[in-house]
Amino acid sequence: MAREKVVLAYSGGLDTSVCITWLIEQKDLDVIAVVGDVGQKRQSLEFIQQKALDSGAIEAVVVDMVEEYAAEYLSKALAANALYENKYPLLSALSRPVIVKHLVRIAEERGAAYIAHGCTGKGNDQVRFEVGVRSLNPDILQIAPVREWDLTTRDSEIEWAEARNIPVPVSKASPYSIDDNIWGRAIECGVLEDPWTEPPSDVYELTVDPEAAPDTPTYLTLAFEAGQPVAIDGVKMSFLEILTALNKVAGANGCGRIDMVENRLVGVKSREVYECPGALTLIKAHKDLEDMVLERDVLRYKAKIEQDWAVYVYEGKWFSPLKEALDAFIATTQAVVTGEVRLKFYKGALTVAGRKSPYSLYDFELATYGEEDSFDRDSAKGFIDIYGLYLSTWARQQRKLK
Ligand code: ARG
Repeated sequence: MAREKVVLAYSGGLDTSVCITWLIEQKDLDVIAVVGDVGQKRQSLEFIQQKALDSGAIEAVVVDMVEEYAAEYLSKALAANALYENKYPLLSALSRPVIVKHLVRIAEERGAAYIAHGCTGKGNDQVRFEVGVRSLNPDILQIAPVREWDLTTRDSEIEWAEARNIPVPVSKASPYSIDDNIWGRAIECGVLEDPWTEPPSDVYELTVDPEAAPDTPTYLTLAFEAGQPVAIDGVKMSFLEILTALNKVAGANGCGRIDMVENRLVGVKSREVYECPGALTLIKAHKDLEDMVLERDVLRYKAKIEQDWAVYVYEGKWFSPLKEALDAFIATTQAVVTGEVRLKFYKGALTVAGRKSPYSLYDFELATYGEEDSFDRDSAKGFIDIYGLYLSTWARQQRKLK
């Protein structure tokens, strides 16, 4: 009888290579390794593919997910100004669902009963993978080898791998755990586990040290149409091209670093360092334009929705009815988010230097304190009398009681 199949989310690193052999040895399964390209820094895809096969996979599939990731995931995150706990642009949380979608598709196409991932038993990503798979196909069974096995130290893992001829990287492994894609880079572990220790400069790859950044500011103008970025300095570009360009410009000016203590879904606080130059630039510019074009109540209500959106996505509920409903609400707000934002990058500081829009609700004649002022001051008195009436009533009562 043919063996059952498992589709494994494969990165090419030691952990997931060991997963392949472990799934064959311990679970007696045929392994289909799936590499999702979401724009992460990596060795050549051919190399990773070959490595999966050398580790024992019966098939190694590479899926280019970058365009889809930008169009279906990042564009929604931008519309939602998504920052978990007001700081983290969710780069790992956003990439998991697109990977999950393809794991499920491939499992269904190949008739695989199982899906497996290489996440540890302590983080958010295991939840995102497994809840994501359930939300798309609850009949697929799941295996988390790293959570199950007893290869607790890296040395025992290397020993295990060498005994089975799994290629082990020759270079000394990075002391950090890194996850990256086009939305940014997450760095954990090593000295960063002490929240008092300033991140050493070797954790950063996308951003220069602000102190070493150019002494003159860089300006650029970002154009949006219906909430999405469409051009830099008048040159039309795709979302991906804009993101790539902003990653470079902001990174070169030392902008985009985040150092935070964050609440993991599993109840643990963790110290996280991120660098998301392009993502933070896009969100900042988008939010600033919204401040000018969205009607006041919509703007305030949307801000609450954004908080919820970020929490749901962080907690692995990308494929869920509430998340879809929130997306629908957010989408209705974006039609007027068209205009231009002028950005200034300078030694780690990203500021908005100007904004304009055909949908601007900023009315100069209402706002000005100069000659052209058209605001009706006489109406202000009556407005304040009524507006503050209940507080006057309350204050009188309080004074009577004293
Ligand atoms: N704390 C972030 C999150 O949960 C980043 C996780 C990064 N993952 C990793 N394997 N280093 O979204």
